Amino acid sequence: MQDTIYLLCLVLHSCQLATVSSEDILKYLSKFPVSKPDDSLMNLWESEVKKIVGTDNDGILLQSVPVGAKWPPPFCHKLKCPYYDLLESTEDYELRRYNYSLWVTTNVAGIDFKQATYEAFMRLFKYIQGNNEKGIKIEMTVPVTTKLIPGPGPACENNFTMSFFVDLDMGFPPRPNDTRVLITRTPPNYTVYVRSFSGFTPSEERWTTQAEALYRALSKKGHSFETEYYFTAGYDSPFRIFNRHNEIWFLKK
Ligand SMILES: *[C@@H]1O[C@H](CO)[C@@H](O)[C@H](O)[C@H]1NC(C)=O
Ligand SMILES: *[C@@H]1O[C@H](CO)[C@@H](O)[C@H](O)[C@H]1NC(C)=O
Ligand SMILES: *[C@@H]1O[C@H](CO)[C@@H](O)[C@H](O)[C@H]1NC(C)=O
Ligand SMILES: *[C@@H]1O[C@H](CO)[C@@H](O)[C@H](O)[C@H]1NC(C)=O
Repeated sequence: MQDTIYLLCLVLHSCQLATVSSEDILKYLSKFPVSKPDDSLMNLWESEVKKIVGTDNDGILLQSVPVGAKWPPPFCHKLKCPYYDLLESTEDYELRRYNYSLWVTTNVAGIDFKQATYEAFMRLFKYIQGNNEKGIKIEMTVPVTTKLIPGPGPACENNFTMSFFVDLDMGFPPRPNDTRVLITRTPPNYTVYVRSFSGFTPSEERWTTQAEALYRALSKKGHSFETEYYFTAGYDSPFRIFNRHNEIWFLKK
């Protein structure tokens, strides 16, 4: 039984309606590697989509966000952001469970936070600006997340993995031209503790202070979470002055 209607769309030309069940979607998303990017999976992605849809269409338009009064959260503004279920909300943090989602991702090793994140951002930005197989522009989404694995010592390289959320409503993502840019997906039921704070694009020190605060709040409650790394999530252009929103995430164990 086809339980959801999805709009199938040729990215560049015309659109048409098709029905795809959410089970089918979970089935093909589950073929993506978990946090282990592999460019060759783009082929699988396309063939799976074609199997489901039964056409050679260039793109697929999926309803990635349910229609509901509480969605999207105000901090997404008018941009697409990944759907999540709010499992817990306290003064200090939220617990969110994200659905399967695709991300366009790149990895930079470096000591300097600003330099590494700038480099990663530019690679992903060029991808959405047209440095991709189809030469198409892709609309910006939120959040921009950075997984930060601190190096073992003060003069050691840190490992930064920056990701842009892939909005499936825009069709499936074209292959990146830059081999350092990859398409990945999150594991099922990706569950994160989130601390939100406002203010201008935070400095390295500010992110760290916020991560410490979240770490303390979670430890106090005896929660179990990954401590080898954390994520920063940014939602705003540098030009937004008010209602800015930033987040720190720790992955729940
Ligand atoms: C996301 O997952 C929740 C819970 O599993 C489900 O109720 C919801 O329909 C899903 N949303 C989408 C867009 O798949
Ligand atoms: C990326 O590759 C595609 C296909 O090879 C090409 O058409 C496009 O111009 C390239 N984009 C850039 C920015 O180099
Ligand atoms: C950085 O971390 C990613 C996983 O988050 C891993 O795949 C990659 O190999 C790491 N890079 C380095 C240089 O350690
Ligand atoms: C994800 O969570 C939902 C709700 O708790 C559960 O029904 C489902 O089996 C979980 N899926 C996986 C793959 O763990």
